[in-house]
Amino acid sequence: MIVLGIESTCDECSVALVEDGRRILSLVIDSQVDIHREFHGVVPEIASRRHVQTILPVYRQALKEAGLQAKDIQGLAVSRQPGLGGSLQVGMGFCKGLAFSLGLPFVGVDHVLGHLYAPHLEADIAYPYLGLLVSGGHSMICHIRGHDQVEVLGASIDDAAGEAFDKVARHYGLGYPGGAALDALARQGNPEAFRFPFSNLYKGNHPYDVSYSGLKNAVINQLDQFWDGTSERSLENIAASFERVAIDTLVRRLARALADTGLVRVVAGGGVAANTRLRASLKALPGIQAFYPSLRLCGDNAAMIAGLGYQYLVRGRTSGWDESVCARVRDFRRFYP
Ligand code: KG4
Ligand code: ZN
Repeated sequence: MIVLGIESTCDECSVALVEDGRRILSLVIDSQVDIHREFHGVVPEIASRRHVQTILPVYRQALKEAGLQAKDIQGLAVSRQPGLGGSLQVGMGFCKGLAFSLGLPFVGVDHVLGHLYAPHLEADIAYPYLGLLVSGGHSMICHIRGHDQVEVLGASIDDAAGEAFDKVARHYGLGYPGGAALDALARQGNPEAFRFPFSNLYKGNHPYDVSYSGLKNAVINQLDQFWDGTSERSLENIAASFERVAIDTLVRRLARALADTGLVRVVAGGGVAANTRLRASLKALPGIQAFYPSLRLCGDNAAMIAGLGYQYLVRGRTSGWDESVCARVRDFRRFYP
C-alpha cells in the first residue's frame, strides 16, 4: 500500500511516499530554517504562510522523485498534533483536499508518535522496547508495546532537551537552531572542563523525569562556579561540558528504566537523536540493542508520518471530514497521546 505523508507541524514542509509503512519511495523536505534564523526562532505567522506557498510544489516534487502519479497513491496521512496551529491547518487542509479529489481515505496522526516510528522505516524492530523521544518540544521516556501503545514513564518537567541545546547555543551566539552547532563544537572540547550539576528533579512519583532549567542556568549564568580552574574557558569546552550533562542525564534515566522494566531494546527518535554523544552512548549500553534513525529521519519529516499512517490505514482506521488539528497535547499523561 502506497501512502502519501504530509508534515507541517512547525517549520518543515514535507511530503513523502512510503510503501507498506517501510519503503521510502520519496521524501521531500522544505526547511524554513533560513527564513526564521534572523528571529532566533520560528515565527508562527511566517511559518504558516510559507507552508501555503510550498506545500503544492513539495507534493509535486515528491511524486516526481518517486516516479509516481497521483493515481498511484492509495491512502493519505497527515500530522494533526502537536505543533503550531496555523502550520498544522495548512497540512490538514491540503490533505483533505487531496483525499476528496482522489477519493482516498486519510488519517490524522500524532507527530510525536511519528518520531518514535521513524526508526521502523530503516530496521525491523520488535516490540516492546524503551522509547526515547527527544526533540525541540518534547523529552519523553516511554514503555512502547505497539505503534500506538505508549506508556509515558518520564518527561521533562521544564525545558525539552532540544530547547536546552537551542537556548544555550543562542546565548553563546551559535545561531539557530543550535543543537547541531553545539554538537559540532563539543567534538573539539573537553567535557570535564566545567562540572555542571546533574538535576535529579522529578514530579510526583515519576523518577524518570528530566529537568533542564538548572543546567541551562548554570551554563548561561553561573559558568565560573563550575569551571575546573585550569582548562581553557573556550566555547568548545563549554559546549562539550554542557553536552555531557545534557545527554548523560537522559542516558542515566534510560539505564535505570531499562533495569527496572527488564526491556532489552531502546529506540530513540526526534531531532536530538542526531546528537553524536547520545548515539554513541546508546550503542554502548551493555546488553542492550539500540536503534536510532539516520540523520535525515531524526528531524521533522513526512516519511515517519506516512509510515505510521500506514499502520492505521491498513487496520481500517481512518479520519472523517470533521478531523481537526490540535496545537498542544497535555504535558504529561501516563499514556500518550
Ligand atoms: O524533532 P525536531 O526536528 O523538531 C521538533 O519536533 O521539535 O527537533 C529539533 C531539535 C532542535 O532543538 C535542535 O536544536 C535539536 O533538535 N537538534 C540537536 C541536534 N540536531 C538537532 N540537538 C543536539 N544535537 C544535535 N546534533
Ligand atoms: Zn518533531
